[in-house]
Amino acid sequence: MKTQDTKHVIRICLGSSCYTRGNAENLEIIQKFVEGRNIAASLDFRGHLCNENCNRGPVITIDGESFEEVQPFQVEKILMEKLI
Ligand code: FES
Repeated sequence: MKTQDTKHVIRICLGSSCYTRGNAENLEIIQKFVEGRNIAASLDFRGHLCNENCNRGPVITIDGESFEEVQPFQVEKILMEKLI
């Protein structure tokens, strides 16, 4: 169970396949979202290398929930639903 002190955990795949197929742009969108809402302190946000899910990429995971084939136009909606 989450407490108020629990941070949202975001992991974005920065392996070459995910990165070139959308996560480069998705990363920028997430960074701007976090900066714009000043919520960095409530996040544990990190990239990771390829974990062999390339065929379902670009992959982003939030609080253990995996989002696959994430395209830039979808990112803000996902963040709003999961973080705000
Ligand atoms: S590059 Fe993301 S799973 Fe392989």
